[in-house]
Amino acid sequence: MPTVSGVQRLSVDLGGSAVDRSYDILIGPGLIAAAGAEIAARFSGKRAVVLTDTHVGPLYADAVQASLKAAGISSEILTIPAGEGSKSFDQLGDLLNRCLDAGLDRKSFLVALGGGVVGDLGGFLAAILLRGIDYVQVPTTLLSQVDSSVGGKTAINTRHGKNLVGAFHQPRLVLADTDVLATLPRRELLSGYAEVAKYGLIDQPDFWTWLEGNAERVLSLDPAALAEAVRISCEAKAAVVAKDEREGGARALLNLGHTFGHALEAEAGYDGQVLHGEAVAVGMSLAFRHSVRLGLCDAEAIGRVEAHLSSVGLPVAPRQVMGQTLPTIDRLMARMASDKKTEGGKLTLILARGIGQSFIAKDVDSAAVVKTWEEALA
Ligand code: GLY
Repeated sequence: MPTVSGVQRLSVDLGGSAVDRSYDILIGPGLIAAAGAEIAARFSGKRAVVLTDTHVGPLYADAVQASLKAAGISSEILTIPAGEGSKSFDQLGDLLNRCLDAGLDRKSFLVALGGGVVGDLGGFLAAILLRGIDYVQVPTTLLSQVDSSVGGKTAINTRHGKNLVGAFHQPRLVLADTDVLATLPRRELLSGYAEVAKYGLIDQPDFWTWLEGNAERVLSLDPAALAEAVRISCEAKAAVVAKDEREGGARALLNLGHTFGHALEAEAGYDGQVLHGEAVAVGMSLAFRHSVRLGLCDAEAIGRVEAHLSSVGLPVAPRQVMGQTLPTIDRLMARMASDKKTEGGKLTLILARGIGQSFIAKDVDSAAVVKTWEEALA
């Protein structure tokens, strides 16, 4: 296999089924330019579509296409409007027809070049086109490099909510080019950092301690620190996905902070007022506060969580992301109840016994959750 210098390779181990769907995650500089060679070393297909959006396409789509061409792969670039609105039935239907117009066959593959929207939509498109073609994730945000590009969750949104229609369809390769993060606005970088920090809080206490000492190096894009943070995050996620690909159990841990956070994000309306990682940062703080309320965890842990998130500039309280127009607790509770983890009307939350000691709590008492919201919104 070709290897670009300074690139680290991990694998998501999904062996054990009839067909080995394990795949590599490559992390490091220069991977956009090396995309063609890395793909050609793994795929026999000679036709591809590169799905991208109006923000990322102008920066990197030509480079990906040139790299594919140099490796003997012809491609067509499909560009969608940047933003969550593109994860729709209409956009999906249009793209399916454009792929068929382009004459793709089952050996053809898709390259999803962009952040979470492109990755989720592109992955779903690949899952259903011709009953499933291969795809490669080339994530261009920190958030998508450490979370959404790994693990095969693909989805679009409907009027009932985010990510309610989709499929598990694992990519065949993930190319996380850390050079591209240099063009990310700091707020976007921080939003991704919340997901990085999440892995420390779930089950990597040493990583959390490392982040407390190295966050500024990561956020100022020190190449070694950044690659280390992305590598450990992807390794942590790959380990969970290898254990529980379809979220029958342990994978739910990756939702730490998400049930509280999604409620705020949904109330804000996905229009950029509240970024996903900002909502997750507040949600993680609330998950720890709730854990302390239930006597599961000591208050010192909240101090560490909130001090670190605040020190890098992430929010830890609803008011910091929602301003003065706070949603009602009834609305927030209704949003939480529509979470995919809810079973028989009972909430499931990811709670913690300490830093790096998260666990799945089923049948959570809603009255106690109301109290946690009351305190947080006061
Ligand atoms: N982002 C959560 C998961 O992939 O399961």
